[in-house]
Amino acid sequence: MKDLKALFVSHFGDSAGAVHYAAPGRINLIGEHTDYNGGFVFPGAVTQGINALIRPNGGTTMRLYAADLDTYCQQEIDNEVGPEHNEFRYVYGVAREMMAHGVDVKGFDAVFSGDVPLGAGMSSSAALESCFAFALNDLFADNRLDKMTLARIGQATEHKYVGVKCGIMDQFASIHGKKGHLMRLDCRSGEYEYFPWKPNGYRLVLVNSCVKHELVGSPYNDRRNSCERVAAAIGSKKHGVETLRDCTWDDLEQIKAAISPEDYRRARYVLGEVDRVLAVCDALNRGDYEAVGQQMYATHEGLSKDYEVSCDEIDFLVDTARQCGVTGARIMGGGFGGCTINLVDDNRYEPFVNTVQNEYKKRFAIDCKIIDVAIGDGARRIE
Ligand code: GLA
Repeated sequence: MKDLKALFVSHFGDSAGAVHYAAPGRINLIGEHTDYNGGFVFPGAVTQGINALIRPNGGTTMRLYAADLDTYCQQEIDNEVGPEHNEFRYVYGVAREMMAHGVDVKGFDAVFSGDVPLGAGMSSSAALESCFAFALNDLFADNRLDKMTLARIGQATEHKYVGVKCGIMDQFASIHGKKGHLMRLDCRSGEYEYFPWKPNGYRLVLVNSCVKHELVGSPYNDRRNSCERVAAAIGSKKHGVETLRDCTWDDLEQIKAAISPEDYRRARYVLGEVDRVLAVCDALNRGDYEAVGQQMYATHEGLSKDYEVSCDEIDFLVDTARQCGVTGARIMGGGFGGCTINLVDDNRYEPFVNTVQNEYKKRFAIDCKIIDVAIGDGARRIE
């Protein structure tokens, strides 16, 4: 982690009165591409995240230094256009959305740095949004906004300032995370529950493929559009259907001839995934981690074949995990590269990480990265 205090001093003269905030990235045990369909997700915050030192400057300008990229931005908060670079658009978007919620955000100076690998599907951008949403709420709000509103502010920033029509999972997890706990969120009702994560004899390991395929256009938004088309088609025939979460398998079969085969496959994945999250909850209640792992492999199959958000490198990592006897493995996050999440029996950990690193290097000439998961706390002020 960079020396934020020294960097703050070098950019802004001194660091008196600057406050330290942090917010994490996330993992997701299961429930992928279900959030924007009103389904369930099962994330947890990680110990990697964004750290920021922030101080109100008494003016109307935000001055930001992104330490990892060595980029700087100075921007009037009420300027309509906003900064060009994404690392600053996230912060600017959050400030603007806070103002739209009635928070009197004034000028501030900040330096920030992160240790969530970029493009790994661990939500580095949500960590940045959540860090600033939490901080600006703490520094400027007379009536504090509640946590769910802070998460929605981060999500709205992605939609309006970055153009990604994401769901609520990442920002929810970054804000609500709790050490040692995963969370099951019902994205339709907003209800959530903490699950202690103590998988005796097993551990979660991420394998970062270190590839990110920038596909033409916006494949994430395309997936979402497919889901919304199917939900609308069913909703036009059946009262009360707003998202795929409200649809039954029967509903989907009945509309099959009226939708494209591609949209059908997308929806088939989502309905299956909503069921799988509930199956995982049952399995966790029984302490049956082998059953959890089977569901993870089934999710991967759906994400790869029906939802088509995997890639050769990631499929290879999942196949290798299976050959090594790993309990469960699948692509994690939005897709098109990034990490696999693996539920690994302690006894198989060493042979698995050795094999996967060697085989991946042989096949793709890329070093993958092993990330041992520790479940940490959500956005917070550090005294
Ligand atoms: C990205 C989005 C989330 C979610 C996942 C897929 O991380 O930001 O809202 O849709 O992809 O589960």
